[in-house]
Amino acid sequence: MCGIIGIIGKGNENVVGKIIHGLEKLEYRGYDSAGIAVVCDGKLSRLRAAGKLRNLIAKIESNKLSGTVGIGHTRWATHGKATENNAHPMMTKDVALVHNGIIENYRELKFELQKDGYVFSTETDTEVVAVFLQREIDKGNSPREAFKNALSAIEGSYAFAAIFSMLPETIMVAKNRSPLVVGFGSNMCIASDASAISAECKEVVYLNDGDYAEITENNASFFDKNFQPVMRKRFTVSEDSIDSGKGEYAHFMLKEIMEQPSAIRKTILHNRINADILNGVSRILILACGTSYHAGLVARYWFEKFLRIPTNVEIASEYRYRSPIIEDNTLVFAITQSGETIDTLEALEYVRKHSNAKVAAIANVKNSAISRAADMIFYTEAGVEVGVASTKAFTAQLVVLAAVAFCKSEFFLQELQNVPTACEEALRLFENIKPVAERIKEARSAIYLGRDLLYPIALEGALKLKEISYIHAEGFAAGEMKHGPIALIDDNVPVICLCPHNELFEKTASNIAVALARGKNVIVFTDAEGSKLLPDEVTKIILPNICSEFVPILYSVPLQLLAYYTALIRGEDVDKPRNLAKSVTVE
Ligand code: F6R
Repeated sequence: MCGIIGIIGKGNENVVGKIIHGLEKLEYRGYDSAGIAVVCDGKLSRLRAAGKLRNLIAKIESNKLSGTVGIGHTRWATHGKATENNAHPMMTKDVALVHNGIIENYRELKFELQKDGYVFSTETDTEVVAVFLQREIDKGNSPREAFKNALSAIEGSYAFAAIFSMLPETIMVAKNRSPLVVGFGSNMCIASDASAISAECKEVVYLNDGDYAEITENNASFFDKNFQPVMRKRFTVSEDSIDSGKGEYAHFMLKEIMEQPSAIRKTILHNRINADILNGVSRILILACGTSYHAGLVARYWFEKFLRIPTNVEIASEYRYRSPIIEDNTLVFAITQSGETIDTLEALEYVRKHSNAKVAAIANVKNSAISRAADMIFYTEAGVEVGVASTKAFTAQLVVLAAVAFCKSEFFLQELQNVPTACEEALRLFENIKPVAERIKEARSAIYLGRDLLYPIALEGALKLKEISYIHAEGFAAGEMKHGPIALIDDNVPVICLCPHNELFEKTASNIAVALARGKNVIVFTDAEGSKLLPDEVTKIILPNICSEFVPILYSVPLQLLAYYTALIRGEDVDKPRNLAKSVTVE
């Protein structure tokens, strides 16, 4: 969700350029608006702009904003439209504040502040915090006391950074259920994640929930939820958390799709799973959202078929509401690229409260919140994923899950080693996929079909298409099509089928025939043998042969390319699709 940053300059250093650089790194968290506030000679100034960061940069260039201490924000709108007026920082006479999260009791607080004569000018929940702090200052409280009183009044999730006109060398921050790091280096910094400040800071402290901190030019003081001084451990910023730019590629998404063979190789290398983790385990529970949930759905097939352990896969945002029962000896996997998704973290909290189950996390971002919430962590070694649509992190998640499922089988672990080369071959098919993208670019809706291990990949292919091209797309179990979705098929609704030549080939081929009888736009991803047996009227994309258990990894790749090229042809912003954010830290 929103990204926040704050930097303290050295001496008279103007920090505006560094804040903008940090916001560029944070823009993946939201791009509805951006803003920056600085304090200079005891005076607060700010600039804000609706839309992407480039709009703010243009404003800063023509307004010559300058300051020695500053905070910045890139917004994913929750309360209030994506207008300049609702953009952060929120500012009063003496306080400028940026926020990531949701203040749940903002209506009560606003009412109380209005009764005291304070006037509001935005539709946001965040403004109550800035105004609350201002009221505390007006009462004669110090900024620290103001913060303390505000934190005890606020309910909800937050990462705040604030600057005060009367304290021009300090940034104050607080965190509860939204990520926040304090960085130590050539400048003292704060940010939603370490990558935004990696140019300045080689060491960071990850704040705990309830923490408050004061940052000055050379120091940071930390306080716990009772406002008692505490020490917090410093971590070295991992090289893996630094994004190396788009390189030769037009978009991060394409670069990340192309990086999959190496991401998969690295993930295999780093994830030799010890079979001991399954000792005494009689059930597996997988919690995840979105694309990560689809990885979990694939794993269920593997876990049940090869480990013979009953496995449930749950959408994390729904899980805790139905008061689920967690049996003894359950092993829980929480899968999350960002390691920050609040729905997944909350589902995990439910598990913690209601069971003694062991929790293993699978995450891509090193040292992210999930690493502190789980008993064990397995990292996908995909490197920084910047494109909002998850690609290489997904296939790397599948690799970690395969490493668990086949931890007792040298044969399959050996077969897994062949996957990166097969993916390389699949990537070379991009020229064949572009014409398919041309064929579906005008579709009002698209249907994806897959059976067994490829049913979750049909779901994932549809998600990729809809999130970046805005074509409505749905994935279905191929056999389920006749139970309803078939009504949707006509010549304008492409049907995209995943049909390798395996033991279920004939069944899926029948579903393809049924689709072809009703619509002319049937596209099939298959292999050489399957291609020979399928009718000529379907468009075929022929993928390499691979161990049948690993087709979900391989077949994901061309579907990502199809979504990418379709969005590109339609002129959409592939890396920053509308309404989305890479890291979802609100419920
Ligand atoms: C889709 C996508 C999202 C995420 C979901 C969970 O391309 O990226 O569906 O998979 O928001 O995010 P993580 O994996 O960070 O928990």
